[in-house]
Amino acid sequence: MPGADGPAKNFCTGSVLGIVATAIGYQEIPYFAAIRRALVSSALSRSRQRPARRRSEIWYVVQITLNARDIGMTKGALAILVHGGTDNWSPGRWQARFDDVCRDRRVIVLPDPKAEPADVHYAAVWKPAPGELAAFPNLRVIFNLGAGVDALMADRSLPQVPLVRVAVDDLTGRMTGYVVLHVLMHHRQELYLRQSQRDRRWQPRSQWAAAAISVGIMGLGTLGANAADVLSRIGFRVSGWSRTPRQVNGVTSFHGAAQLDAFLGGADILVCLLPLTSDTQHILDRDLFRKLNRTSPLGAPVLINAGRGGLQNEADILACLDDGTLGAASLDVFAQEPLPLDSPFWTHPKVVLTPHNAADTDPDAISRYVADQIARFEAGGVLENVVDRNRGY
Ligand code: NAP
Ligand code: GLV
Repeated sequence: MPGADGPAKNFCTGSVLGIVATAIGYQEIPYFAAIRRALVSSALSRSRQRPARRRSEIWYVVQITLNARDIGMTKGALAILVHGGTDNWSPGRWQARFDDVCRDRRVIVLPDPKAEPADVHYAAVWKPAPGELAAFPNLRVIFNLGAGVDALMADRSLPQVPLVRVAVDDLTGRMTGYVVLHVLMHHRQELYLRQSQRDRRWQPRSQWAAAAISVGIMGLGTLGANAADVLSRIGFRVSGWSRTPRQVNGVTSFHGAAQLDAFLGGADILVCLLPLTSDTQHILDRDLFRKLNRTSPLGAPVLINAGRGGLQNEADILACLDDGTLGAASLDVFAQEPLPLDSPFWTHPKVVLTPHNAADTDPDAISRYVADQIARFEAGGVLENVVDRNRGY
């Protein structure tokens, strides 16, 4: 601005910033707020010393204030992208929950032919098709509506914005419930006892104290650490294996490839709560099962997998159950879901099968979690549970 003095320049810069900020969605960019506050306050303090310019400067302040008010009313939309399935994946249910917790923000359920892709700043998704998220040019954050992000990691066109996964007490508690249920089921020989009941056979077998059984948990993250803690408080001997060193009270920890064999050697019941990544794919194979404790009080070691189907070599599991390398298995996840009707897992006498519902995603808890994260992000705070794309989880 030729000839303009300091305060006027500051106001002009503030105004330009205001327009740019409006265009790109100012409220999530704390730097703009800080810069504009500094410019306005410096201009105001200098204008006190120069009363002649005061009127035009006050006009700029009014403009900036109006601008900011408008910005508050144009919050970027949240798009929901889920593809149905069970009740908790119904798009209508997610919309109702998000409408409740994002009252001043437009919530769009995709696909919506009337939706303007540029309006979408946040996406809440579960297993979107590869390429679906690339359609939104102003995306700020992707919220995965579950804990595991393997489906998103496989999408090469995934926008380079923060990807946040679920880590909430509700989901963690559900998974711990599943793990405890299945550890106890094998520890207390429920498969044998249910068959005995069907056969009207009164033949108790001796039961071991929890302390006689060692449970090894692969993955000592949000879910694994909680399950390990609860199992150790029930009295089991618990160990855990992670990529980097982790400490959980009462749990013996191992980490990295170098300590995997030592970890496996002590495990009577192996629980897998790993994420599916290029490092962990098909990690549950015959070679690994052979390294589990061969002198387990249970007779043969037991596998419980609630991570992902891609972690397991399914032909190896079946063969190891048949030749006694494994005594039994609880499987919640499979390479192909829904499990094909002709899969031998359905009828295998040593398999306890559940349809990937060890820990259901609850729309009430997760919509609140997402709304809180957006509010924190827009206030200049830090997003939690952001996926490290290099690690893949
Ligand atoms: P998380 O907090 O990210 O924990 C992952 C754990 O795995 C961490 O301890 C991590 O080690 C460890 N890990 C990753 N890669 C490894 C490697 N190459 N070697 C050794 N350890 C490795 O994840 P989470 O929230 O606990 O969830 C775990 C998985 O559970 C999800 O990814 C999802 O697939 C599955 N899940 C299933 C259901 C269901 O209903 N069946 C529900 C929810 C989640 P560090 O601690 O060193 O990072
Ligand atoms: C469910 O499988 C999840 O990853 O949350």
